[in-house]
Amino acid sequence: MNCIVTGGSGFIGYHLCNLLRSSGYRVCSLDLVEPPSAAPGVEYKIWDIRKERDDLYLGADYIFHLAAVTGARGGPESAMDNAQHNVVGTVQVALAALRVGAKIIFISSGAVTPEPRMRGIYGWSKDTGESALHSLSTSGLQYAICRLTNVYGFQHRPKSVIGQFVQCNLRDTAPEIHGTGDQVRDFIHVSDICRGLVSAAGSRSHGPHNLSTGKGTTIKDLYSLCAGVFTLSSPIMRPDAASGMSHSVLRPTEHLPWSATVPLEAGLLQTYREQLAIFQRHPVPLQQV
Ligand SMILES: NC(=O)c1ccc[n+]([C@@H]2O[C@H](COP(=O)([O-])OP(=O)(O)OC[C@H]3O[C@@H](n4cnc5c(N)ncnc54)[C@H](O)[C@@H]3O)[C@@H](O)[C@H]2O)c1
Repeated sequence: MNCIVTGGSGFIGYHLCNLLRSSGYRVCSLDLVEPPSAAPGVEYKIWDIRKERDDLYLGADYIFHLAAVTGARGGPESAMDNAQHNVVGTVQVALAALRVGAKIIFISSGAVTPEPRMRGIYGWSKDTGESALHSLSTSGLQYAICRLTNVYGFQHRPKSVIGQFVQCNLRDTAPEIHGTGDQVRDFIHVSDICRGLVSAAGSRSHGPHNLSTGKGTTIKDLYSLCAGVFTLSSPIMRPDAASGMSHSVLRPTEHLPWSATVPLEAGLLQTYREQLAIFQRHPVPLQQV
């Protein structure tokens, strides 16, 4: 089986490429940038998915479409990037999938679920990507849609809340909690996500599949959990800072033979140990991973 992973140099892409390779698939990543660390046996091609070029996709059985600009809180300054990378890019990849006869697995987000007026530009771009796939399926596109919640794990974005808490431990600085800290999130380990994406690829159901735990954790509770797993100074509260949706938890899909298995505390400990090992070897580059 041949797989393309768009966005293979990113956080989830790195883990997905590793899982697909270790499951015996041939894997090619298409990304704008080189990976911070290459998954063994993966072919990395520098490519902008907004451009048309079918030969890059030829022979693929599955296209896992992860490439996107991310960050659910994007305002007007990120609107054009969301439109171009997430909407135009998704249409371009979907058309390539249609032409070469591959199945596309579109990585969407829980940010699509609020009603349109409450949805940020990122949620709009993912929702539009989903709609494009539904429309193209009438022309024969094979597809599955997976909506993710808050993904964490080794090499997660340093700006994510767990990323920041880990950084604060490693750099001995005080973490900040934006808003009241009562915002509820559904944190899920990246290994669970990757298993879910592979499961969606093999399923006849289009979804949308919520790859989530269905369990809510407030940011304050997350802080306490982290402080129990690794040392953290008292948080600095920033009640006026933008803090996103008050509640973002999705009921997990019932249409895949899949469920999240990594308990939050165990996942935090594993993530911390992996980030610590990298930090001890390369103290400076950690901020970039
Ligand atoms: N991490 C999360 O918590 C989370 C939650 C919900 C959904 N998602 C979705 O999962 C996917 C992967 O997220 P991530 O956390 O790994 O993000 P990431 O930012 O680490 O990776 C995204 C990758 O896409 C690449 N990319 C962007 N535009 C591109 C283009 N035009 N051509 C080629 N490559 C391009 C970037 O270079 C980057 O390597 C994204 O679609 C994101 O919207 C992530």
